[in-house]
Amino acid sequence: MEKEKVLIRLEHITKNYVNKHHNILVLDNISIDFSKQKFYLIIGHSGNGKSTLINILGLIDSKFEGNYLIYGNEVSTLNNKDLAKIRMQHVGFIFQDFYLDPYLKAIENVLVPMYINENILKESRKSKAIELLDKVGLKERINHFPRELSGGEQQRVAIARALANDPDIILADEPTGNLDSTNEKMVFEQLKKLSKDGKCVIVVSHSDLAKKYADVVYELDDHKLYEVKK
Ligand SMILES: Nc1ncnc2c1ncn2[C@@H]1O[C@H](COP(=O)(O)OP(=O)(O)O)[C@@H](O)[C@H]1O
Ligand SMILES: [Mg+2]
Repeated sequence: MEKEKVLIRLEHITKNYVNKHHNILVLDNISIDFSKQKFYLIIGHSGNGKSTLINILGLIDSKFEGNYLIYGNEVSTLNNKDLAKIRMQHVGFIFQDFYLDPYLKAIENVLVPMYINENILKESRKSKAIELLDKVGLKERINHFPRELSGGEQQRVAIARALANDPDIILADEPTGNLDSTNEKMVFEQLKKLSKDGKCVIVVSHSDLAKKYADVVYELDDHKLYEVKK
């Protein structure tokens, strides 16, 4: 039973950044599963490789040793087009700096990922974007530009955008790093809700508050992931 819920399986993942001058070992032989309906928190000191791990999980970085299975598909057998498709349909990203397009209104930012998704009917995109912004409490802000929104509101737009293609995997790299405590709580509550709704939510955060929301906490230390008792 449990097996069916596994979305991501990492087997013996080792990551080195290699160039002419150096070879930096970041991840050393990591094996771990990530399942649906769970909120995972990854903590660890700066420079320990948290973002590197998120980039691997998000299929942004495919230069590593070991096996990465997503929905049972071995990533190394997929070509760039297949990888892009999986990323588009199954993975939503949330970043510390929001990365909204400053020239697009909130609703337009949320619409962007839908333009390349054939599975969403053209006619229903707009209503879907409004629905997503409503879900994160921004119905009154759909026509605002990012500069007209607070940090917390911008991050909630980014959450709505991450959900545009209804992904099952949400990756958030220090999503509350630039937010005050009220907005921080709001963002974690949204992420928690998503995990309860069935998504696999993987969050990198230094926030103590995040631990309260997490189902499982891992610490990345000495190139390995250790489960931390809450
Ligand atoms: N593109 C890169 N090339 C070389 N080294 C890198 C690169 N990206 C990150 N690193 C190094 O890998 C280590 C882990 O970085 P990172 O994953 O960003 O850590 P964290 O997110 O935990 O702060 C750091 O020592 C960093 O300097
Ligand atoms: Mg980082």
